[in-house]
Amino acid sequence: MANNWIDAAAEADIPDDDVTAVVAGGVELALYGAEGGVYATAILCTHGAAKLCDGFLDGYEIECPLHQGKFDIRNGLATCEPATDAVRTYPVKVEGGRVYVDLG
Ligand code: FES
Repeated sequence: MANNWIDAAAEADIPDDDVTAVVAGGVELALYGAEGGVYATAILCTHGAAKLCDGFLDGYEIECPLHQGKFDIRNGLATCEPATDAVRTYPVKVEGGRVYVDLG
């Protein structure tokens, strides 16, 4: 399947070791600067109506601000209850100072 790269942000706007919210192609995403890389997930926690962009990033793990469920931002897997369902992740590439996300 062809990639569907969408320009999501300037690389300079992605915080180091933190998370920010962006809208790309009409989709709200959480973008993470983690361990020198950039990662993207759906913005909503899979457990409830909390936004992961308001959470706390520790390494590759985002902690939901509402009930402290956790997800690995590299593969979306839930790593701490009460979160049990994976959050969707999106491929990311950085080119020419821009961050592109493949919305599929
Ligand atoms: S809403 Fe995220 S853990 Fe409950």
